[in-house]
Amino acid sequence: MLRLHDLTCGYGRSAVVHGVDLEIGADEVVSVMGHNGAGKTTLLRAVVGLIPAMKGAVEFDGADVTGRPTNKRVKAGMAYVPQGQQCFAHLTAGENLRLVADGRKRGRALIDEQLDLFPALRGLLGRQAGLLSGGQRQQLAIARALITEPRLLILDEPTEGIQPNVVAEIESTIVDLAKRGGLSVLLVEQHLGFALQAASRYYVLRSGRVASSGPTGTEAETRVREAMAI
Ligand SMILES: Nc1ncnc2c1ncn2[C@@H]1O[C@H](COP(=O)(O)OP(=O)(O)O)[C@@H](O)[C@H]1O
Ligand SMILES: [Mg+2]
Repeated sequence: MLRLHDLTCGYGRSAVVHGVDLEIGADEVVSVMGHNGAGKTTLLRAVVGLIPAMKGAVEFDGADVTGRPTNKRVKAGMAYVPQGQQCFAHLTAGENLRLVADGRKRGRALIDEQLDLFPALRGLLGRQAGLLSGGQRQQLAIARALITEPRLLILDEPTEGIQPNVVAEIESTIVDLAKRGGLSVLLVEQHLGFALQAASRYYVLRSGRVASSGPTGTEAETRVREAMAI
């Protein structure tokens, strides 16, 4: 459902990601790993159209969306949760959700569905998002993305900087979500254990290039560690 073909992208004239080929099937979870600075976030930005492709193509559901603006890609079914638990800090958690839900036919029901998924948020709806913990803000950010009813959920390091007990909760929610069907997940994740457990296939980026990729079977961890060690 998502296919990156020979994608090169970066900032200004300097390429950061070089000729990446990547594919995600329907209902598939795919992990992208790599050290800091490898180009993971840059790759995601090009997938959602926040930066242009310098070369190559982004194909979504069989359509070439390479030249399309971000809002069109979101309308087509992509949802992007950026790195760093970003929310509107001065708004309440509830307002953060309503901002996306308002104007949608099933707005109310969609908020309810996300609160079932993240029950911890129910008691926090009146609290200013900026005052929530990192884990709570991450859950809020994912909930907000899901209100758009995406078919591809793009998560950039959802467990980064979050207390271990909440990490486990977020991990199991993402795994559950993927099992529900109708949703593919592109997961950028530094925790190898989670990245390999949640996904059926993985890619390792090194200096903006695919250093290793394959199924997340028994030998995957060794291959990933090798690809990341160099
Ligand atoms: N806005 C930007 N402008 C210029 N260079 C950037 C920008 N953001 C990231 N970079 C550079 O791109 C490279 C890859 O960064 P990034 O995609 O954030 O890596 P990762 O997410 O894998 O840690 C780094 O060398 C970084 O310095
Ligand atoms: Mg990053």
